[in-house]
Amino acid sequence: MSSTRNLCFTVLSLALMIISLTVILKKWHFGLREKDFGDAAPNMDLTPDRHKLLQQLRERQQEIFPFYITSRQELSEHPTFPNVDGEHTERNKTLIRAKTPDIGCSDLNGMTVVDFLGAGYTKTVLKAILSQGVSVALKSVNDQGTDMRSCLEDFKDPRGCQELVSFKLRKEIVLLQRLQHPNIIELRGQCQDSALVGGIMAVLEQGTPVQMIQLLQRPWEERFRVCLGLVRLLHYLSRSPLGSVALLDFQPRQFVMVSGELKLTDLDDASAGDPACGAHSDCLLLFPLRNFTVRCSPRGMCEGLNEMRNLYNAYRYFFIYLLPHQTPAALKPLVDQIMNATGELKQSINKTLEAFEEVLHVYKSGLYLQNMAPSIINDYAVLKGMGTVGNLEYRCWPSYSQQGCVLSVYNATEAALICNSHPQCTGFSLSGQKAWTGRLLASFRSGFSHLVPDVSSTVYVRRARDSAAGL
Ligand SMILES: Nc1ncnc2c1ncn2[C@@H]1O[C@H](COP(=O)(O)OP(=O)(O)OP(=O)(O)O)[C@@H](O)[C@H]1O
Ligand SMILES: *[C@@H]1O[C@H](CO)[C@@H](O)[C@H](O)[C@H]1NC(C)=O
Ligand SMILES: *[C@@H]1O[C@H](CO)[C@@H](O)[C@H](O)[C@H]1NC(C)=O
Ligand SMILES: *[C@@H]1O[C@H](CO)[C@@H](O)[C@H](O)[C@H]1NC(C)=O
Ligand SMILES: *[C@@H]1O[C@H](CO)[C@@H](O)[C@H](O)[C@H]1NC(C)=O
Ligand SMILES: *[C@@H]1O[C@H](CO)[C@@H](O)[C@H](O)[C@H]1NC(C)=O
Repeated sequence: MSSTRNLCFTVLSLALMIISLTVILKKWHFGLREKDFGDAAPNMDLTPDRHKLLQQLRERQQEIFPFYITSRQELSEHPTFPNVDGEHTERNKTLIRAKTPDIGCSDLNGMTVVDFLGAGYTKTVLKAILSQGVSVALKSVNDQGTDMRSCLEDFKDPRGCQELVSFKLRKEIVLLQRLQHPNIIELRGQCQDSALVGGIMAVLEQGTPVQMIQLLQRPWEERFRVCLGLVRLLHYLSRSPLGSVALLDFQPRQFVMVSGELKLTDLDDASAGDPACGAHSDCLLLFPLRNFTVRCSPRGMCEGLNEMRNLYNAYRYFFIYLLPHQTPAALKPLVDQIMNATGELKQSINKTLEAFEEVLHVYKSGLYLQNMAPSIINDYAVLKGMGTVGNLEYRCWPSYSQQGCVLSVYNATEAALICNSHPQCTGFSLSGQKAWTGRLLASFRSGFSHLVPDVSSTVYVRRARDSAAGL
């Protein structure tokens, strides 16, 4: 009698287990994958390891689940995305971007992998040319990475580990769908097909790794662009469709460069929403050299903590290195103030963005040249429709060109001012080439042995009596 009851009980609990497992598996595959999770047939025995793995899988699923739900709503409610940042062209580009059809598995047929772009703990990135000739970056799980290895050590379950690590890439994909900004890498599509790509793969616009050493040797204008892009990104993240987003793992290697613009590519460590708190002491920001606190709001949130964390990280990983040195003299007070305010977290991201945009405005509009004597251009003979060949160049630093002295200027008068201050300079040319700010690139020379007709160029030659007279 009691043994029958025991049997009954066992059968019942087994059935319950099967049901709950099925529910879990269904949840995993919600909108993600049509295939069965082969090994996890319900008749397997649940060792403690297995149980822990399932637990972790469930946690990862729960972490990304809300992003999927809202992203569907968002798609139907806001067919165009509500970006507030960027210039018109960027905005238009993003609107167009939203309309181009996604690259899917079928587009990956016949692709050629041409290069290795990078790898980290979790993911590998390859450069591929699709059959249509488009060049893209393909991000997939790094089977040799630290994440995968430590999972295999713990659980010895290749399939389960593949699934577990894949959740980080899934999280990244859904975040890339929700968070769209000129300074976030563009998701071109995705493929989830084990037979074709061995799991899940994100198709991204291609960039190049951020190399700080290289960036340090670039003109200030380009370094400023990187910092401005970062500030625009952090401003967006502070009020994104997912709330205030913190980048928990904030380092240069989470970003790539695309045509001079900084773009975030690694989002698997992003966290949405300011942390919850019970007291002010819960809202602590610890850095190696500085600590900060924010207030715990009446709603029990560390309000502004994510924003501050991002901003201070931007300061310590980017601004310190890229912003201060070689700042154009006229902009130095503004830049010093930015450095001071962010180093102490005295300003919100809004105010910081305003300060950056102000620097850009002053630089682009030549406002800082108001005290310049316009007459100095009269010291130069103007040869319109002429260009130069030959290498009577000299070097200056930081130059846009390795061989010569190419600097960005507001107009010819500013170029004349610069030429006057270089002992070797006997003139310069303007060819209509521009820096990203729209400022002109002037090529300074120590001589003009060969002048050739060139409709797109103007040569300015310093008059002899002035060069003889020195500065
Ligand atoms: N779109 C891209 N174009 C070119 N290179 C890229 C692109 N995306 C990522 N990379 C390179 O691949 C590397 C690994 O990518 P990612 O940072 O996403 O992987 P990860 O495993 O999360 O790295 P980490 O261990 O640093 O967190 C990056 O550091 C970057 O150099
Ligand atoms: C971008 O769109 C704005 C209006 O939204 C328009 O004024 C502007 O001309 C467009 N720019 C380009 C380059 O299409
Ligand atoms: C920051 O706080 C930690 C922990 O409270 C403390 O150990 C550390 O000394 C503080 N650092 C600075 C720079 O104040
Ligand atoms: C910021 O400015 C204040 C006052 O001008 C100064 O005392 C402080 O040292 C500066 N801090 C940094 C980090 O530059
Ligand atoms: C910051 O700027 C955004 C939009 O640019 C605005 O909605 C928000 O209210 C501002 N926040 C603060 C604290 O001023
Ligand atoms: C360059 O700009 C300055 C400041 O706006 C102005 O005074 C000067 O006349 C301009 N020079 C030329 C060649 O346009």
